[in-house]
Amino acid sequence: MRFDILTCVPELLQGPFAHSIVGRAQEKGKAEIVVHNLRDYAEGRHRPVDDYAFGGGAGMVLMIEPIARCIEHLQTQRKYDEVIYLSPDGLTFHQGMANQLSLQKNFILLCGHYKGVDERVRTHFVSLEISIGDYVLSGGELAAAVVVDALVRLLPGVLSDETSALTDSFQDNLLAPPVYTRPAEWRGLKVPDVLLSGDHSRIEAWREVQAWERTQHRRPDLLKGLDT
Ligand code: ADE
Repeated sequence: MRFDILTCVPELLQGPFAHSIVGRAQEKGKAEIVVHNLRDYAEGRHRPVDDYAFGGGAGMVLMIEPIARCIEHLQTQRKYDEVIYLSPDGLTFHQGMANQLSLQKNFILLCGHYKGVDERVRTHFVSLEISIGDYVLSGGELAAAVVVDALVRLLPGVLSDETSALTDSFQDNLLAPPVYTRPAEWRGLKVPDVLLSGDHSRIEAWREVQAWERTQHRRPDLLKGLDT
């Protein structure tokens, strides 16, 4: 899976992909993540990537030309399955969307900044707009990192225990059950006996009940429409 991420603040994306699961996925060759600085595609002495909004109003708007140059250059190299624009007014990201997208191969992720991008970028180039939640970030970079992470961890061979993505919260519309590790008792707080029993079918049954109860309590909306 390949991600080409277009941003005017590439520094924001230096950290998130360098470590842990996404870092290892790149080392194993399962994921390729390339960050492009839109300024490298700008022209003129000051290489501007943004300008004032026509009609006035506060905030700068990312210009279409550097973005078009970058996207059209990338599209000469390979075919992209989706050109995604990260924006608070996109479709709200959820696990089902991550699962579906993880079946595709090549993505361009465009990060807005300031007041966003010229609307013509969205109508001409973008195939999918994603929001990671109903709040406004300073730009799409952190949202892009969220989407990349959620997709990469689903790729076969990325998690060491291949089943562990299947037991994540949301995979079956249930939150994950509680987990414990050593010590078995801490300041009088004990790990539930069943988890120390070695009886795998009882442990599975306990986890299922816990997942249901936790979901019922915290996110009853997830259970609507499920066979209960
Ligand atoms: N850019 C700014 N806010 C965002 C959000 N909530 N989701 C995706 N991209 C964004």
